[in-house]
Amino acid sequence: MIVVPTLTHGDVTVRAVRLRDAHAITRLLKDNRDWLRQWEATVPDSYGAPPARQMIKSVLRLARQDQVAPFVIEHRGTVVGQVTLSGISFGSLASGAIGYWVAQSVAGNGITPHAVALVTDWAFTRLGIHRVEVCIRPENIASLRVVRKLGMRYEGLRRRYIHIDGDWRDHYCFAVTSDEAFSGVLARLTRGTANESLADIPEHDQIAARTPIR
Ligand SMILES: CC(C)(COP(=O)(O)OP(=O)(O)OC[C@H]1O[C@@H](n2cnc3c(N)ncnc32)[C@H](O)[C@@H]1OP(=O)(O)O)[C@@H](O)C(=O)NCCC(=O)NCCS
Repeated sequence: MIVVPTLTHGDVTVRAVRLRDAHAITRLLKDNRDWLRQWEATVPDSYGAPPARQMIKSVLRLARQDQVAPFVIEHRGTVVGQVTLSGISFGSLASGAIGYWVAQSVAGNGITPHAVALVTDWAFTRLGIHRVEVCIRPENIASLRVVRKLGMRYEGLRRRYIHIDGDWRDHYCFAVTSDEAFSGVLARLTRGTANESLADIPEHDQIAARTPIR
């Protein structure tokens, strides 16, 4: 079973999601409906997201099965979003994928890059993961800034990769391995030493992402 820690940097804390967060998360999801919808994972042929309580139960079950590490993000002690390391595999792959969101009211304060850095460093140093990836829709300019600030390396375009907002959507994928970030992802974020150009997207992938596949 994955034991999800509490990790803090300045005003930003990430900690394990709990069933009693359901109320706060329900309110945040409701208040940020239009802000989040375009980027939210959906399930083909199903209607709407499950209630927060059900979603939390489901990720806690996956955490017990070592597949997911589900965190809430707190800013100055208030829950403002979530960051989740999912699809965790150990052994020869030792990899996981990070997803995140914050409320619109706190966007632009650097909360997400710090939350992702905290979780990534923990995954490398405590969980025994070797590679963390983040996949982002080409239209999501704000999220593309997050991976640049963290110095994540562009890996490629995955066509119609994840079901988001009701359809299969292309994603740009970025990754960082523990050997690339031996001094820590948080350290290079706070020092401003992350190599942003690693996240550059080659023109041919930008063109491909604008071209529908048949
Ligand atoms: C993407 C997201 C998580 C970024 O979180 P954040 O905590 O605001 O991250 P940052 O503070 O580093 O801001 C990132 C970029 O957002 C943009 N931004 C800044 N303030 C903003 C605001 N008030 N509203 C919208 N976007 C804003 C800027 O481009 C910023 O980059 P910059 O700092 O170089 O100017 C957040 O915008 C969000 O939750 N969006 C909706 C859900 C989502 O897209 N999830 C990710 C799916 S891959």
